[in-house]
Amino acid sequence: MEIITQPDSQQASLIAAGIVARTVQEKPHAVLGLATGNTPLQLYRNLVRMHRDSGLDFAGVTSFNLDEYVGIPPAHPSSFHSYMWAHLFSHINLPKERINIPDGLTTDVPAACRKYEQAIRSAGGIDVQVLGIGSNGHIGFNEPSSSLSSRTRIKTLTEESRLDVAAAFGGEEGVPTHVLTMGLGTIMDARKCLLLAFGKKKARAVARTVEGPVTAMVPGSVLQLHPRTILVLDKDAASELEMADYYAWVHEHKPDWQKY
Ligand code: F6R
Repeated sequence: MEIITQPDSQQASLIAAGIVARTVQEKPHAVLGLATGNTPLQLYRNLVRMHRDSGLDFAGVTSFNLDEYVGIPPAHPSSFHSYMWAHLFSHINLPKERINIPDGLTTDVPAACRKYEQAIRSAGGIDVQVLGIGSNGHIGFNEPSSSLSSRTRIKTLTEESRLDVAAAFGGEEGVPTHVLTMGLGTIMDARKCLLLAFGKKKARAVARTVEGPVTAMVPGSVLQLHPRTILVLDKDAASELEMADYYAWVHEHKPDWQKY
């Protein structure tokens, strides 16, 4: 794991945007795995700016989102569809037909999940998977106890995860109970994973992900088995890492050819 800690989320998001942008520049037909939530908002803002001001070209890119709520229509203001169009897709030239988000309204969940996995394979696999992390260690909506080799499927949200998004649904009662999410096995197939975490609230999950045992109880910890995972943190999210000084030293002394 490569751990990059920045003074604040703004600087961390610039680094994350640089990593995504470089992937797209080097491979115009790149496949991006995308996350929603508060964490990647500044990353998406940077990508929009790079597209507008420097012509970062998404015309050949394909995207796959990690997850979507079950039973929520795409047009619902708190769906992940709406989020992605509001914060990224409406502002860049990624062709609509190459945008993929799980279908939360499907009447055949197993078939829709199989189809999603097949679509990722047909696109050539994910080059960079953007990830946030839940305060309970979930990535995607693979809640604690998720199989470390799981594929796209339906999951039941924990109360903690539902509380985290309650405001967007006018209170906890309004929050969907289920999601369709890429599995941990699906995420692990990405060529590179880019996990962002900001704020004190994420510090414990980050420490358990990086320095704890690999366990289904901290789904993010499976990334210890991924050969190319980069964590980009602000200093609050990094505050419970025991070896933070070592990670900082490693990062500062990396030869240029080895960076990211
Ligand atoms: C969202 C997702 C989740 C979030 C996580 C953190 O697509 O898969 O794992 O990344 O819940 O959410 P925020 O960034 O809102 O703290």
